[in-house]
Amino acid sequence: MKTSVILNRNFTIGEIDERIYGGFIEHLGRAVYGGIYQPDHPSADADGFRTDVLGLIRELGMPVTRYPGGNFVSGYNWEDGTGPRDRRPVRLDLAWKALEPNKFGTDEFIKWCRRAGTAPMMAVNLGTRGPAEAQQLVEYCNFPGGTELSERRRANGGREPYRVKLWCLGNEMDGPWQTGHRTADEYGRTALEAAKMMKWTDPSIEVIVCGSSNDAMPTFGYREETVLEHTYDLADYLSIHRYFGNRCGQTPGYLAQPEEMAGFIRRAVACCDAAGAKKKSSKKIMLSFDEWNVWFHSNGREKESPEWTVGRPLLEDVYTMEDALLVGMLLSTLQNHADRVKIACLAQSVNVIAPIMTEKDGGAWRQTIFHPFALASKYGRGIALQSVVEGPCYDAEFRTDADAPPVLHRGIPYLHASFVHNTERSEVVIFAANRNLAEPMELEVRLGDFDAVSVIEQQTLHHSDLKAVNSAEREEVAPVAQQGAALENGTLKAVLLPASWNMLRIS
Ligand code: AHR
Repeated sequence: MKTSVILNRNFTIGEIDERIYGGFIEHLGRAVYGGIYQPDHPSADADGFRTDVLGLIRELGMPVTRYPGGNFVSGYNWEDGTGPRDRRPVRLDLAWKALEPNKFGTDEFIKWCRRAGTAPMMAVNLGTRGPAEAQQLVEYCNFPGGTELSERRRANGGREPYRVKLWCLGNEMDGPWQTGHRTADEYGRTALEAAKMMKWTDPSIEVIVCGSSNDAMPTFGYREETVLEHTYDLADYLSIHRYFGNRCGQTPGYLAQPEEMAGFIRRAVACCDAAGAKKKSSKKIMLSFDEWNVWFHSNGREKESPEWTVGRPLLEDVYTMEDALLVGMLLSTLQNHADRVKIACLAQSVNVIAPIMTEKDGGAWRQTIFHPFALASKYGRGIALQSVVEGPCYDAEFRTDADAPPVLHRGIPYLHASFVHNTERSEVVIFAANRNLAEPMELEVRLGDFDAVSVIEQQTLHHSDLKAVNSAEREEVAPVAQQGAALENGTLKAVLLPASWNMLRIS
């Protein structure tokens, strides 16, 4: 089975914004308590941050991290998480049926971000609260001093402003599951007033408005139109979310889901541009894909605990080789939409549908999905290239769950790839998955005008068992250096193993 690709250095999609390799920490399950923050753990630093987790977060190279939710933020009083710890209140978290002790809050998060080498991307509560509290949080974080709120931050240890640049205006506000769910008009008006007051406080910030939580929502399209009608002039990004799962065990169809993600991006861009056209605006709203991942292994157990407890395990999906293959392709899909997707957050970062897991009394470990993310984030920087691809395709049926009607995906190329011209390193980096489960693929890439002379490396993620997983004891799925890729007369020749994800670097 052979696939040929032609690249040209002048045929570009756009510059990859490094923020597409973002992460997400929500007050949910063991993400904060027992994840990034565990003062009684042997690896904890003086602030209670687990240094083993910090090390792995740095390995992932996440330029931004979204916080504190997610559904959690829609019932959150940010003030509860500030000031002396012994005076902070314990509250009910209605979103996840949990107790929130508020031992970790805004100031701790900012400190943690600095240690993790990531920039904060803060979400404000537009569910149970409104524009005034959102403005106050911006003032607390970013105003230099001399007001009650900015002095409160200084007294809490933040002598210099936190300079938080990115702000999410609420979370999934179209979802009835959201605390303080709002209609499109209610949310649009609230988001506009919040954006106005937040930007008056700090004109350097950027804001992200919520449209639909995903494109399967019955109001998708209408919601985007209405929200952008209200907020177009002040909004910088539209938030979109999407999770994937193989609930019915249909692997070929599951591996065709990157095409679904691409379709969603195109539809969201169309909504943004339609809203701009109606306003006769030359401004373009960009996308913030601020929740994406595989999420299905743990589905349905979210609120089943009879008890209200702090940090009980929730959404702890253990990812397979097959999930890692999909995550690698989803990363390529984000790169292939570099012109409009400027921010993306893998949801989430630690313990909760996450690449990093922790043991309470043991270490932190890498899930299968950790690996494609770390390699894409490290090497997938620069210019995303267009490609001309010729190769075999397949058809596959897929159901999102047992009750859903089957959808037939036609003409899915076995090769799923992205091509990045990393100008800083003077490399062409290829991220390529072979979706054929049985046969290897001979890949040929014509790199004529790149002056490429050698293959630096081919890293391959492959396992004979697509259901193989990693654990604290054993890293079963990890990239392995592959020999044999070569460059002849400006053409790369490589073999991609069946059901494998690969990164090839050429200089
Ligand atoms: O990431 C888990 C949850 O998924 C988030 O809290 C919510 O925004 C989404 O529905």
